[in-house]
Amino acid sequence: MALQEFLDQLEQLVSEAESTFSATESTDALEEARVEFLGAKNGKLKSVQKLMGSVDKEDKPLAGKTFNETKGRIESAFETANERIQGGAGDAERDTQFDPSLPGASFKIGRIHPITQTIEELKDIMGRLGFSTADGPEIEDDWHNFVALNIPDDHPARDPLENFYLATAEASSGEKNQVNLLLRSQTSTVQIRVMEKTKPPIRIISLGRVYRPDTADATHYPMFHQIEGLMIDTNVTMADLKSVLRLFATSYLGDDVTIRFRPSFFPFTEPSVEADYYWNGQWIEFGGAGMVDPNVLQAVGYDPEEVTGFAFGLGVERLCMRRHGITDIREFYKNDVRFLAQF
Ligand code: DAH
Repeated sequence: MALQEFLDQLEQLVSEAESTFSATESTDALEEARVEFLGAKNGKLKSVQKLMGSVDKEDKPLAGKTFNETKGRIESAFETANERIQGGAGDAERDTQFDPSLPGASFKIGRIHPITQTIEELKDIMGRLGFSTADGPEIEDDWHNFVALNIPDDHPARDPLENFYLATAEASSGEKNQVNLLLRSQTSTVQIRVMEKTKPPIRIISLGRVYRPDTADATHYPMFHQIEGLMIDTNVTMADLKSVLRLFATSYLGDDVTIRFRPSFFPFTEPSVEADYYWNGQWIEFGGAGMVDPNVLQAVGYDPEEVTGFAFGLGVERLCMRRHGITDIREFYKNDVRFLAQF
């Protein structure tokens, strides 16, 4: 074959490929055109390549070079058409293919942990009663966890077997020259922190983790959550405490809940009570509460003759378990998505 004839065929193939590619409107049509021209087995380019064998020997270098250029030009014509179709010119076609009435494929996205959901809901309920949220550290000193809460040195709640003590640090001030650090065993610590910094009136709740070295079983876990409430003003009474707890239980459980108080003892409240609520035909333990002990008010620099207040502390897991019929606290912390996905 004469060189010129071979070169003419290449040139013709380029213009044919260019116009075919640029006329395509869909991915499928473009693919068909690609196979037609660039197909490895029977593509048109391949057929022309076969003709190169019959080109005169001395013309072969030029024929080969032009062939490679031709291949590059056809490939880039394909790329141009491909970008045009992917980039939006094919939208019309995609739009006609898109049927919004077909059922969608669902995505499995994560969910908020049931305890976090409960915390948010409790904050919301108490927020409506005028209580704002306060936070405190999970690593505490014994002043906030015990001393200021009127828990004496020899109280069993301070036993090393009942607490996660961490370290002993040197205190900067003279009076207490050593500070024992521990993972807080109760959120009552936040009462002290708030009162130390704020003048009455006070209406706060605090929700967070507390730690006790309990062996995990259906009702115990070495880490759990409490909601602490504190209200201080010039004339707070137990009737206020009872009303707030009743409204709180009613809002969370969604029924008109009855509350009862049983006498109890906590070092930081006087009088102290265990609050129960009546729900679904039975009395259920709610948590501890009482009128803030004058010693506690004094420890934070308040005058017990001027202000009074109530406090309460409830277990968050216990509330959540009641409401959802969960019978084992350990479920919350196994990270089993089959459990967590239900909330
Ligand atoms: N801190 C107590 C506990 O961990 C709960 C408690 C009881 C908190 C009475 C209070 C309260 O504020 O007044 O068991």
